[in-house]
Amino acid sequence: MGTSLIYRNRIVYELAMRGLYGRHYGARYRAIAAIVPDGAGVLDVCCGPATLHARYLRGKSVDYTGLDLNERFIARVRRAGGRGAVWDLHSDAALPEADYVIMQASLYHFLPEPGPLIDRMLAAAGKQVIIAEPIRNLASSNNRVLAAIGQRFTDAGDGAQAQRFTEATLDALFRAYESRVVEQSLIAGGREKLFVLSA
Ligand SMILES: C[S@@+](CC[C@H](N)C(=O)[O-])C[C@H]1O[C@@H](n2cnc3c(N)ncnc32)[C@H](O)[C@@H]1O
Repeated sequence: MGTSLIYRNRIVYELAMRGLYGRHYGARYRAIAAIVPDGAGVLDVCCGPATLHARYLRGKSVDYTGLDLNERFIARVRRAGGRGAVWDLHSDAALPEADYVIMQASLYHFLPEPGPLIDRMLAAAGKQVIIAEPIRNLASSNNRVLAAIGQRFTDAGDGAQAQRFTEATLDALFRAYESRVVEQSLIAGGREKLFVLSA
């Protein structure tokens, strides 16, 4: 299976993300960084090229580990001063422990059964799990051409993912974790929804 173009190169990836999020690009990362206190231990699963760490968390002296399937992204995490490991999050191996376990814009890769991964994230977290997920995107567009582009260009190397969350399906998923949800809000101009769960 071939990795999609946007996941092959950090610069192409960041340009695509900036294009998708427009002026809200920085806000999506700032919303998460605002929750993480100085000096905290952070595990970022499906971290991509770790823009969250390099630009928004490094100044807080966090102890950062990023996990991703993509070797190039993990090499970038290490060059930027974080710890990184190539890791397939479909594997049911226990995750490294950290105060805050974060996942941004990646839960859709685990549809139709994202629950087991959320449970592993909760087991690894000492304080909180932070999940921010897109709820507006090309892949679920009614326009077939746009939908095909959105679906084809997000193959991380383990197969294209046609399904995405809407706000209603994401809310339905987190209802099963209701007793743990301490915060939920729309971020990045309403493009993503953020859930904070106590560990
Ligand atoms: C849309 S990107 C989000 C990256 C980063 N969290 C951000 O918001 O900028 C999705 C990431 O999930 C990673 N990914 C997809 N499937 C994965 C899997 N099974 N195991 C580990 N990482 C995976 C991809 O390589 C990619 O870096």
